[in-house]
Amino acid sequence: MKVIRRWLQQSIISPLVDLSYIVMSLLFARGFPRWYERLNAWHYRRQAQHYDQSVIGLEGARYAQALEAGLQALAVQPTRILDVNTGTGFVAQRLLVLFPNAKIVATDLSEAMLTHAQHRSPTIEFVRADTARLPFADESFDLVTLHNGPPHLAEMARVLRPGGQMLIAFTSGARLPRLLLRRWLTHAQRFGQLEVGESGDGLWLLLTKDS
Ligand SMILES: C[S@@+](CC[C@H](N)C(=O)[O-])C[C@H]1O[C@@H](n2cnc3c(N)ncnc32)[C@H](O)[C@@H]1O
Repeated sequence: MKVIRRWLQQSIISPLVDLSYIVMSLLFARGFPRWYERLNAWHYRRQAQHYDQSVIGLEGARYAQALEAGLQALAVQPTRILDVNTGTGFVAQRLLVLFPNAKIVATDLSEAMLTHAQHRSPTIEFVRADTARLPFADESFDLVTLHNGPPHLAEMARVLRPGGQMLIAFTSGARLPRLLLRRWLTHAQRFGQLEVGESGDGLWLLLTKDS
């Protein structure tokens, strides 16, 4: 049974979810409609307790392979980090290990996911916020990360300092249609210099904001 669930997750659900993130990022570049927020809250309220086991655990090492490859390509030594769409804090925790002296702030729309995340990582500051409307001043961070979520590139770039870096990674991103990816990458290029890589099924994008 677990083998079938893993196959379903890795071959069908994960690529479809990543596809929806890229499409949403192109369609709702200026922010999501209200109904999306309600749907997201409902969905992740049900998922929060089981997310680490039923998604991250089921995917295994594959879950973070693109993220890890992107982290290795980082050039900044960040002291102020923002992880958006943090969910249960998976990336924020990894960043804490890599950059123990940095101030890490992590945001998400879902109260339920944040409660879970805060319980796991008391030293990280978790804030409920929509990535389309981040409650931070311009140029507040050296590094902004997003893993497996719909990117709001303009808003994420706004809070990044010039020369700072934005790392976006998707577990199954390399399996998405090339045409769509090209369109999305062209959109991303407006915000700085891009480096793009694949790792297994995953895709990462590292953007360095123009100085
Ligand atoms: C698939 S989970 C990924 C969580 C985490 N980044 C990880 O890799 O484990 C996506 C998360 O994005 C959050 N999310 C979706 N849309 C959002 C938005 N507009 N603003 C903030 N968070 C959002 C959801 O609440 C959910 O926790």
